[in-house]
Amino acid sequence: MCGIVGYIGENQAAPILLDGLAKLEYRGYDSAGIAIYDGNEIRMEKVMGRLKVLEELTHGGETMPGCAGIGHTRWATHGCPSDTNAHPHFNKEHSIVVVHNGIIENYAKLKRKLEAKGYEFLSETDTEVLVHLLTEYYDGDPIAAIERVMRRVEGSYALGIMFLDHPHHIYAARKDSPLIVGASPVGNLIASDVPAILRYTRNVYYMENEEIVCLSKENIRFFNIDGDKLEKTPTTIDWDIDAAEKGGYEHFMLKEIYEQPKAVRDTISPRLKNNDVVIEELGMTDDELRAVRKISIVACGSAYHAGITGKYVLEGMARIPVEVDLASEFRYRNPIYEEGTLAIIISQSGETADSLAALREAKKHGVRVLGIVNVVGSSIAREADNVMYTWAGPEISVATTKAYSAQIAALYLLAMKFAKVRGTVSQEEFLKMQSDLEQLPEQIETLLGMKEKIQRFANRYLAADHMFFIGRGIDYAISLEGSLKLKEISYIHSEAYAAGELKHGTISLIEDGTLVVALATQENLYPKTISNIVEVKTRGAFVMAVTNFGHKEIEKTADYVIYIPKTNQFFTNSLAIIPLQLFGYYVSLGRGLDVDKPRNLAKSVTVE
Ligand code: M6R
Repeated sequence: MCGIVGYIGENQAAPILLDGLAKLEYRGYDSAGIAIYDGNEIRMEKVMGRLKVLEELTHGGETMPGCAGIGHTRWATHGCPSDTNAHPHFNKEHSIVVVHNGIIENYAKLKRKLEAKGYEFLSETDTEVLVHLLTEYYDGDPIAAIERVMRRVEGSYALGIMFLDHPHHIYAARKDSPLIVGASPVGNLIASDVPAILRYTRNVYYMENEEIVCLSKENIRFFNIDGDKLEKTPTTIDWDIDAAEKGGYEHFMLKEIYEQPKAVRDTISPRLKNNDVVIEELGMTDDELRAVRKISIVACGSAYHAGITGKYVLEGMARIPVEVDLASEFRYRNPIYEEGTLAIIISQSGETADSLAALREAKKHGVRVLGIVNVVGSSIAREADNVMYTWAGPEISVATTKAYSAQIAALYLLAMKFAKVRGTVSQEEFLKMQSDLEQLPEQIETLLGMKEKIQRFANRYLAADHMFFIGRGIDYAISLEGSLKLKEISYIHSEAYAAGELKHGTISLIEDGTLVVALATQENLYPKTISNIVEVKTRGAFVMAVTNFGHKEIEKTADYVIYIPKTNQFFTNSLAIIPLQLFGYYVSLGRGLDVDKPRNLAKSVTVE
């Protein structure tokens, strides 16, 4: 994880770096630092804690004059959060300075060798080997030294580097960690992600693996690892700049919850045409879709939960067998690929290390890979055979909401497409589904109107020790996501259980007053879920149920009920998740926590 940013140009670098780091803080926020060439030497300030500590220390950058610099915001992997472990890292002479995002896997071996040569290590980071290796190889040619370092290190990196000998240039390189380059009229920039530079430019170059870039005030030159010059074409970013700002909301998470009707509409609408689902990006003919015999979905976290929903929907609607795997498990389980398998990798960031590795594993086996990705031009988007973008716009809050909603909407479209070409739904059923799908954004809007009611309920549970989320089928998939939403931002322990599984052990944890959130949106499973609600109530649980309008009788069993508008049974997740997201948000808010930046987490997990 971690965020890196660099600037060289006509303006003062420090305020630009601090501003860029603020946009990247979602990637890590244990410590932050900047290094600036001041016309004489490279000066550095770095400090443990949030970026605002660094801003205060440098008076918003005023104490660090100079027009070239690099900066970093850290999510600690090697070495605890501390001033010393914060980036940038200098060599002994203060002539080379480095910021790094990623993990150097062979750092221990390299460190031993460098120590034997007399290099002194000050931090516990893997990054410090990079700066000493650069020093070892540097003979006046920065590109040659960077190339040699790239050949020696194993692992992932996005690097920003400055050499005192070449004060009018900054350098960068990448492998398996994201890095973009921005060209602006007042200078050139590097960054881990687009929001960091959007204020200055929309012209962006995406760096590929094992590429190097050298930036001056006026020029950008790209090289491959052999030092050959590369020609690259910039992409124009068409994001709305306000989309990456809070726009009057107290937190990005609340803003993003409120953006869900738009995210779902933007994902669905362009693909519903002439009473059909048209997903041109799939790049598959109807015959090819009919030939798919199995779908393998791989993802992490909430994207994995979206995948579980996808399994129920694709299997139920289109009758195709679907396997869903956690990417971190999948990549090492030696998966078996049958002919006719379609691999789907789901990822908001498109940079999640395990999901990217799963994509490569699938491609190695010659399987066609479809990415369902939110960030345009991200690694997964570029490496997949085909990409179906979720049009949720930039998502900043660590806890995903709108990207998740857009992912499940994309999966509904895919299931409908498969169902139509394989003839598992009639035209009449298809048209009804299409109309239900089109109503989702408005129905989400209606549910957002419940926010005060949910806040009042959430305030009753600020001191809870633990909670449970239960459901069957798609309701189980919703439970998984509802539970993760709550725990990641409120720090209240919570578990999601398939409602029928609870009595095989976990029910022993239910005691007087334990909150159980029961999802009961699946009509065919409704009586079964009611029985499970009775089971936990008998053990003293307080039950909040989420069910469809019309099930008024549930009030005789559950203690508190939230009704969702009627929709197709395959689409209930899109509605039932809204009160659960709001619940998690308001519990976190009521406990006075940092909603957008929960402890120990980062938005984009670019390390294993
Ligand atoms: O960027 P990705 O969708 O690949 O990220 C996957 C997970 O890290 C992510 O969904 C995570 O679980 C969220 N923070 C949960 O809110």
